[in-house]
Amino acid sequence: MSKPVILTGVRANNDIHIGNYFGAILPIVDMAKRRSADFDINLFIPDLHSFTTPIDHSKLYDSIRSNARIYTAAGLPLDNQAIHLYRQSRIPAHSELAWILDCFTGFGEMSRMTQFKDKSRKFIDSKMSEDELTNEQKAWDTIHTNVSVGLFNYPVLMAADILLYSASYVPVGDDQTQHLEFTRDIAERMNRKFGDLFVVPKPVAQQHQFFGNDQGLRIKDLVNPTKKMSKSDDSGKGVIFLGDEPQAAHKKIMSATTDSLGKVQYDRENQPGISNLLEILTLVRQDAGKDVSLEQTISQYTGMERYGDFKRIVADEVAEFLANFQARLAAVDEQAIEDKLESSERDMNLVANETLHRVQTAVGLRR
Ligand code: TYM
Repeated sequence: MSKPVILTGVRANNDIHIGNYFGAILPIVDMAKRRSADFDINLFIPDLHSFTTPIDHSKLYDSIRSNARIYTAAGLPLDNQAIHLYRQSRIPAHSELAWILDCFTGFGEMSRMTQFKDKSRKFIDSKMSEDELTNEQKAWDTIHTNVSVGLFNYPVLMAADILLYSASYVPVGDDQTQHLEFTRDIAERMNRKFGDLFVVPKPVAQQHQFFGNDQGLRIKDLVNPTKKMSKSDDSGKGVIFLGDEPQAAHKKIMSATTDSLGKVQYDRENQPGISNLLEILTLVRQDAGKDVSLEQTISQYTGMERYGDFKRIVADEVAEFLANFQARLAAVDEQAIEDKLESSERDMNLVANETLHRVQTAVGLRR
């Protein structure tokens, strides 16, 4: 019997920020270390997902490399045979299965995906002229020529990423929950139609239970703390990238939005900025090897009245975290990463092709 699979990925465009790092990369690296005796751990770089929205293609190759280096600097043990680190684009079965699944996916189903709606809305708000916004036909023309089909149906590719490897557990932030639900739906639909083709990932609630606090964590934007920290934020002021100069990150924290209540309290609803800083502070302390919980950080600072002083504490520790992380990053062994990618890609092509052939047979492409 093969071991159950835990699988996750972080897209390779732009820089990775602390939301991705603490929300996805670090939990999966920690888990990979803790659980690799009982699970296969698939940690992949979804590089085909990188250009669902426009990017600078001349930087893509480097950011793919940089993703692998970040996993390594975060402590991923490259010599562990149960851990697989690979690039999606090096395993053609991802695109092939995505196409087949596309043909069993409803247009309406994809239209309801909030990530698609949010991202295309962002495009509309930022790029469309007054004239286009008031003229419905023009608005549609602009959307149709600028919002890609890739953005529209990338949840299908994501389902293929998961189903090819029969993953049971998929640790992702809650912005990806709907895509996970879709993956379960399409797997069940295909299984009903063609017999047992896919392992259906565990229900999201069960995944939350399994991963405990690791999943569903949402670091917020520093400028607008009611929305999540996101790499597509245009100004970059609300986002701390792992590659930021420590002093620049210090400044971003010092100018983070707070509130007018004037007292540090953990209250996500009424004091989202301060609450976010309390969470970030806990995470950078944990990364420094300190055994602290969010509750302990909260009780240490609750009631503090000078936001400037509180922010300085957070800013100092975030700057220290970045300096340490960047030193670890500079020290990674490039050759070891290259070897790991190549051997994982060899092994994962075999696993993925086995699933793909089963599906191709079921739909009548093979005997
Ligand atoms: P992506 O690259 O946008 O984000 C990668 C992971 O980081 C999480 N995340 C956050 N977590 C906490 N706080 C934040 N502010 C924050 N921002 C992002 C995301 O939830 C995600 O878990 N479609 C996926 C990549 C993907 C994938 C997959 C993941 C493609 N195929 C298969 C798992 C399985 C995405 O765009 O994530």
